[in-house]
Amino acid sequence: MEFVSRPLPGNFGTEILDLDTARVSDAGVRELLLTLYRSRFVVLRTGGLTDDAYVAFAERLGEPIHLTKNPGDPEHPEIVRITNIGIDTKREPKGAAHWHTDQSFRNQVASVTMLYSVQAPDIGGATRFCDMAAAYDALPKAMQRRIEGLTVLHLHGRSVVARPGDHVPLPLKWLDPQETVRHPLVRRHPITGQKTLYAITGTSQGIVGMEQQAAEELLEELCQHALQERFLAAHTHRRHDLLMWDNPTTMHSATPIAAATGDHDTRLIHRISLRGRPQVFQDQADEPAGHARSAGSSA
Ligand code: SIN
Repeated sequence: MEFVSRPLPGNFGTEILDLDTARVSDAGVRELLLTLYRSRFVVLRTGGLTDDAYVAFAERLGEPIHLTKNPGDPEHPEIVRITNIGIDTKREPKGAAHWHTDQSFRNQVASVTMLYSVQAPDIGGATRFCDMAAAYDALPKAMQRRIEGLTVLHLHGRSVVARPGDHVPLPLKWLDPQETVRHPLVRRHPITGQKTLYAITGTSQGIVGMEQQAAEELLEELCQHALQERFLAAHTHRRHDLLMWDNPTTMHSATPIAAATGDHDTRLIHRISLRGRPQVFQDQADEPAGHARSAGSSA
């Protein structure tokens, strides 16, 4: 083993210690990703990463998505800065403090999202998670049968089943605000094959072939089920933590935080979102082929 792993104290999530991101072998990357897929999110306690080292590690896990036309750092266009410096999301309810799944408003969705903590506040600023695969497993069989094969319409902006208190996502200048995409309501994880609810809120707008009110009622029922305490966990960032989550099987939400006043309450995160199949799983057939066993998952 090239790292030590232990469960985090919530309902799910794993802490990873002693992983050398610069030297980890392909077998180690594979093991790390399988741990991530099993536990929905992992937290690597790093001794500090340069931007170059961070991007090099990210490229081993997938294809970094270039999310903005005007990156803050042209040398590292895949890194998005998330901060409370000059921004108070407790007063202005806009941004990532709403339940969502990254890139569910696009045809090519995100695989893994990575948040590297450059500065972490002493209090607050946690990222919350919902385990959508566990929520799917816990559904009554009749509901699983009812939702099998349904397709959800997604659009960037506020979901028709946004949760009370959800913040409104910031508009993306480069995106056509009318562009609707479709994703299965129940999908299989592309590597492990595990079945999961997918992006039921965040960007969901309706269900193909279903009357709007019925669609909203169904999505609402699924949200109330999935967002029960037993399917939730949270990560409180520490400086130099590298948090990674599996987008297919999770939703997440930032927590609102006041504007920084000094080092003790500053939150500065470098985010990289990934898509595509990790290099270490290139030899494996796409879902729904003999997925679970070949990926070493019990799913
Ligand atoms: C995000 O949703 O991309 C960021 C989450 C966070 O800032 O905690």
